[in-house]
Amino acid sequence: MMNWQALILAAGKGTRMKSRRPKVLHPLAGRAMLQHVVDTVTHLGMRDNVVVIGHGAEMIQNALKGNDLKWVWQSEQLGTGHAAQQAIPELHDEGYVLIVYGDVPLIRSATLQAFFEVCQEVDLGVLTVELENPTGYGRILKNDNGHVCAIVEEKDANDEQKRIREINTGIYVVKSVLLKQLLSQLTNQNAQQEYLLTEIVALAAQAGCVLRSYSIDDPMEVSGVNDRVQLAELEQYYQHRYRQDLMRNGLTLMHPDSVTIRGELIHGMDVCVDANVLMEGRVILGDNVTIGPHCVLMDVEIAAGATIEAFSHLQGARIGENCRIGPYARIRPGTQLASEAKVGNFVELKKASVGENSKINHLSYIGDAIIGAGVNVGAGVITCNYDGVKKSETCIEDNAFVGSNTALVAPVTVGEGATIGAGSTITHSAPARRLTLSRTPQYTHPTWERPVTDNQ
Ligand code: UD1
Ligand code: CA
Repeated sequence: MMNWQALILAAGKGTRMKSRRPKVLHPLAGRAMLQHVVDTVTHLGMRDNVVVIGHGAEMIQNALKGNDLKWVWQSEQLGTGHAAQQAIPELHDEGYVLIVYGDVPLIRSATLQAFFEVCQEVDLGVLTVELENPTGYGRILKNDNGHVCAIVEEKDANDEQKRIREINTGIYVVKSVLLKQLLSQLTNQNAQQEYLLTEIVALAAQAGCVLRSYSIDDPMEVSGVNDRVQLAELEQYYQHRYRQDLMRNGLTLMHPDSVTIRGELIHGMDVCVDANVLMEGRVILGDNVTIGPHCVLMDVEIAAGATIEAFSHLQGARIGENCRIGPYARIRPGTQLASEAKVGNFVELKKASVGENSKINHLSYIGDAIIGAGVNVGAGVITCNYDGVKKSETCIEDNAFVGSNTALVAPVTVGEGATIGAGSTITHSAPARRLTLSRTPQYTHPTWERPVTDNQ
């Protein structure tokens, strides 16, 4: 979109959030509300976007520093019109400006696109919605031709105007040059003694400009957040909408309402997700992947045919085709499993690379390790990767067999095809294809008897 610019108002304090954090930084589905808005307008191809900030300005700039934005400072909150005035020096001389709020996070790009279609060739467009109860909102006034000609705020409205149910969402498109002219004409002669952005509509109508309003069906998309109750409502709505999109795209959710996705889910065909699953960040699930109930998946990529069983927690990992994980497995960042690997219950993996067909089935900690293909890691095997100062690596080569309850004191290598006897503490590398063990030989005391108590 050439010459389209977004102007995002976000200087308000958000007193009702009762928070030290600026309102627009409160997360919705894992992303700051303001980030949602920025992502939406960026997705629409808008550039040189301007954000007006005041309360918590530094925190906001920090939190959004990965984005290409122009920041404008509004030191005193004298109204939405005053906020927009601060942005005048940053506005283009040609094209259109889209005005949105930082605390209205759910507006969809498809909706904005439809709005832009209607506003082509128009000087000023207002996005509106009809509400059962319009109390508190600015009402849309129309002329005899049915075109919008003014917005009247609740506090300035007479009884007849108060009965109007079509309200101002606060989202506008305005020709850039015109917007600058209109903003410079605003006064604070109204009930709230504020500079009201809404007044640009009447000013434009009086100047003979072409105005349009575009009414949308779904009020949730344009609802703002004032307190944490409303934030929770929008969160639920967002989750519901996202889950429905995913299901329509072919994902099976066994108990949709219990699944939460704070980020992005990309999935293949015939993927099934059971109840109470939480996903965060970027999650990629290949064809035929099954996620059991109560799993947490954060920034993971799971290849086709893999099964993650109940209560498993996976973060920052890549899981190969047809792997079987869990129940009750914990897979930490930096872990990679090749295809057909198995990780069983109460196994913790950290920065581990596990080869094809290898098994770590019970009660293990494997950290900073490279495990080859066809390896069997017995129950309770621990890599002692930390000596109190530094981390060291353990290497277990192809087809090795590590007996139960072995401690592998890193750095150490278990050679190809080697066998480690159960209960060993391995401090030196174990040669390939040989049996290595370290235990005190079993011993039976010749005379010892269990003591008996006197009072029996
Ligand atoms: C505004 C509209 C009203 C509309 C409603 C929709 C005006 C005068 N009224 O009312 O017609 O129905 O939104 O929700 O515009 N802000 C600043 N600086 C300021 C004041 C506000 O940046 O000095 C920002 C706030 O952070 C917020 C947004 O502008 O994101 C809206 O401000 P708010 O005070 O909530 O406007 P309303 O009174 O609700
Ligand atoms: Ca408001």
